[in-house]
Amino acid sequence: MSHLRRLLSIVLASLFYTLALGTGLWAQSKPRNYHPHLNSPRVKAKVDQLMRKLSTREKIELLAGYTGPGYPNGMFTHPFKQFGIPALKMSDASVGVRVWGPSTAYPASVALAATWNPALARREGRALGEDARARGVNIVLGPGMDIVREPQGGRNFEYLGEDPDLAGQMGAAWIEGLQSERVAACAKHYAGNEQEDNRSTINSIISRRALEEIYLPPFRDAVRKGHVMTMMCAYNRVNGEYSSDNPFLLTTMLRDHWHFKGLMMSDWGATHATLSALKAGLDLEMPNNAYFNAKKIEPLLASGKLSMATIDQHVRRLLRVMVAMHFNDRPQTDRSLPKNNPHSAAVALQVEREAVVLLKNQGGMLPLAADRLHRIVLVGPDVSPAITGGAGSSYTKPNIPPVSLLEAVRTAAGPGVQVTQIPYPYPLRSIRAWWMHRPPAGIQGPMFTAQDRQLIQSADVVIAGIGPREGEGWDRHFHMPAHQDQYLKTLASINPHVIAVLYAGANVAMSAWIHQVPALLDAWYPGENGNTAVAEILFGKLNPSGKLPDSFEKHWRDAPAYGHYPGHDDHVHFAEGIFVGYRWFDSKHIAPRYPFGFGLSYTQFHIHGIAVQASGQGRRRQVVVTAEITNTGERAGGDVVQLYVRPPHTSGVVRTYQQLRGFQRVELNPGQTRTVSFHLHWRDFAYYNTGAHGWRVPAGRYGLAVGDSSRNIAGAPSVQMQ
Ligand code: BGC
Repeated sequence: MSHLRRLLSIVLASLFYTLALGTGLWAQSKPRNYHPHLNSPRVKAKVDQLMRKLSTREKIELLAGYTGPGYPNGMFTHPFKQFGIPALKMSDASVGVRVWGPSTAYPASVALAATWNPALARREGRALGEDARARGVNIVLGPGMDIVREPQGGRNFEYLGEDPDLAGQMGAAWIEGLQSERVAACAKHYAGNEQEDNRSTINSIISRRALEEIYLPPFRDAVRKGHVMTMMCAYNRVNGEYSSDNPFLLTTMLRDHWHFKGLMMSDWGATHATLSALKAGLDLEMPNNAYFNAKKIEPLLASGKLSMATIDQHVRRLLRVMVAMHFNDRPQTDRSLPKNNPHSAAVALQVEREAVVLLKNQGGMLPLAADRLHRIVLVGPDVSPAITGGAGSSYTKPNIPPVSLLEAVRTAAGPGVQVTQIPYPYPLRSIRAWWMHRPPAGIQGPMFTAQDRQLIQSADVVIAGIGPREGEGWDRHFHMPAHQDQYLKTLASINPHVIAVLYAGANVAMSAWIHQVPALLDAWYPGENGNTAVAEILFGKLNPSGKLPDSFEKHWRDAPAYGHYPGHDDHVHFAEGIFVGYRWFDSKHIAPRYPFGFGLSYTQFHIHGIAVQASGQGRRRQVVVTAEITNTGERAGGDVVQLYVRPPHTSGVVRTYQQLRGFQRVELNPGQTRTVSFHLHWRDFAYYNTGAHGWRVPAGRYGLAVGDSSRNIAGAPSVQMQ
């Protein structure tokens, strides 16, 4: 396609997306809205009927993944056509339906978290549900709901940030959206999969309190609020036992406490045993039947070590999902839906529009005024081609040629501005090679040629697309690879008007260059078309409104997991306990570079009129916090009002300084005011008391801090509890 035609198609597509979203057109055209019930009399009767027909051998075959002619890729359960039981077709996952050909590539999940917009998460879930229906997929293997514990985690980009409430709310909304399209979601990786290094053997040692307060709540929300149909356990061990073999996780918490009625599957190749896994509560071995097969199971049944009731229970859970979702009595492929769906692309773009976080904007360097610019130079490894997502099982080959930063800047700058790219001179090795070869070898010769120097000097601004290489299977380094630190520093010494655009799933080391670089945007991974949003923000067509879902530490030595990561001898001790992310920085009085919940804007917001109303006593106590927010600046824009509960000092009780307990995104025109309200219950003030095995609220006055970042608090009234 010629350059001009390509430009035209991008402009037209943007116009379509804006119109379609603005008018709510795409939302009205939705054909389905389905909330499945796993326990209805209809489901029970049909499952009972099928159970009577299945032989023991057939039931065993339903306990594991199936590969055969017509069922490739290790992505199916066993079909029994004679009983009307289809093979359930699966696909990865959280950022696109990736297994069955090209598909809409959405921004990284951490970008979705940075929108702090559950309604948008629901919309993305629905759009991805449509993508799945267009391909006949029954189960989408997402969302990823582990916690961002340390910036190096290879799959942080697939998760929803460091805070359990934010991750839980965003994940649950996404699940609801996906399942409303009659596609089952799969909350993963349950649990303790907070790193990729040694993921298949590492033992995550996590205190009961940290599990209850930090690592399990997102999964609980997936079950209780999102009504998730399926879950996937993790590769790693948790407190000594493999997740797939862990009765505490798979039965005590999941079934007894949260009353999960759906299906628990293993991660791919993460099953390690037959008897103990079946007894612990694992329903489905994926992708094959290495452990859950007749040869291994029949003798266990014959010897009485395993009961038929246990097998039946596991089979029922799979059938229940199948019947509840009507996978057995209608085609899953919806041929009315296009595989390259403009609605999906529109949602992908909207997510990035709300996700980009403006971290630094010294001297109001941004937004750029295209009519006052002559020359823009783009540098860095991530300028073109676009880095749409992280590597591994979530990586989605986009439907369209992805929009690069170069292309998006060209479009936004218009024909009057000369836009040039200087190719990055150092190879970014594959993740594994980078991991194996760190630290990188020294630099030979000067970083820039005389010609490049001249070009950089003559530019009005230099935009640097930078980032690490991240992916499943390996953690990355805190420092960006391939000399990027030094590159940025040298660049800024040639031309101080540098804008850095970071493409990453979490924080990176910035100390070497951040003081010389006046503007920094975090674009996460933008998916197939998100660079359009990045350029809209650079040129002020859009106000940046994303907020950090993780704290960005200045130095790795400041981080909560420092000294306790990545573990040794196959053990990683989560020694920071409940002090994860901002809970650590706040409580230990360490200033992060950019705090949790932070993000700059081109306009200004004022939060005022904070009021508290409380009623009821004890466990019935209800607290309503209201606040007003006014856009006092000159542009329309979004902000996120955040509510943090600050517990009192109670002797003998360890609490973190504050905990996020509510958030609300608002979009405001200049001068406009909105009232936001947060409804809190007893449990929002509670901590997990390990000795008593339960939640407790010590008596006292609790602060209710309202602001638009964890460190920009407009007011903190208090309320008496008990
Ligand atoms: C990943 C899962 C993924 C599965 C199937 C595993 O390696 O950990 O997240 O869903 O593969 O592709």
